[in-house]
Amino acid sequence: MTDLEKGEASSAAEIVTWAVNTFGTSFAISNSFQKEDMILVDLASRVGGPFRVFTLDTGRLHEETYQMVETVRERYGIAVELTFPDRGEVERMTAERGPNLFYGSLEARQLCCAVRKVRPLERKLAEFRAWATGLRREQTEARAAVQKIEEMDGRVKINPLADWTQAQVEEYTRHHQVPVHPLYARGFPSIGCAPCTRAIQPGESERAGRWWWEQGGPRECGIHFSPDGRVGRGEPAAKNT
Ligand code: ADX
Ligand code: SF4
Repeated sequence: MTDLEKGEASSAAEIVTWAVNTFGTSFAISNSFQKEDMILVDLASRVGGPFRVFTLDTGRLHEETYQMVETVRERYGIAVELTFPDRGEVERMTAERGPNLFYGSLEARQLCCAVRKVRPLERKLAEFRAWATGLRREQTEARAAVQKIEEMDGRVKINPLADWTQAQVEEYTRHHQVPVHPLYARGFPSIGCAPCTRAIQPGESERAGRWWWEQGGPRECGIHFSPDGRVGRGEPAAKNT
């Protein structure tokens, strides 16, 4: 049986342990400091071997997210690697379209996500043979198909929490006293960039606060799925920066 086939039958702890032991510092957790990502950091820190953690610092993150960088350093002794967009791309994009271009159109929003998230991730992933995400199948329709262990662009992508429910996330977090991003207490069930994320109202879906002004659509930034919600990463057609 291949590792990919074994993945589905394995627990999150088993998959994370396998990744740390197999890939070491060629393995990284992509951390946006949401509860899922923090569970991955907690699980990996229990293995005892070295691994890496990075966050895509888009330049537009909440102040509370930077507090979490410090919290991870204090609690786990891990220096989170901040990964920045290309300065020239950001300068050209903001000069041509303004700093808050994302509110103008779906195309503009996807361009900003491509410059600030998708391309920096592609550059960062060149350093690794394997990486982990906190994707869960119940989050969106597109995510329903994610596998616990996948191969993408010649490297291993693990989604150890793919089959976890929200209740399991809450239970693990509480039981192991995993640090929680302060914005959860202010009604944010999903956390991204500051201008593109807000608290939700009772009865709204978990991701309703992400790009809240967009009507319908997949509401994906493109680091896991193409912007139209299909599986596989991608960028909008317009690449004028
Ligand atoms: S997004 O595509 O809409 O932004 P979401 O916020 O649900 O994704 O996060 C899904 C997973 O993508 C996270 O669990 C994390 O592994 C990764 N991720 C998202 N944003 C970042 C970020 N800024 N830095 C690092 N990893 C991230
Ligand atoms: Fe830009 Fe908003 Fe995407 Fe962040 S979430 S990269 S600010 S469009």
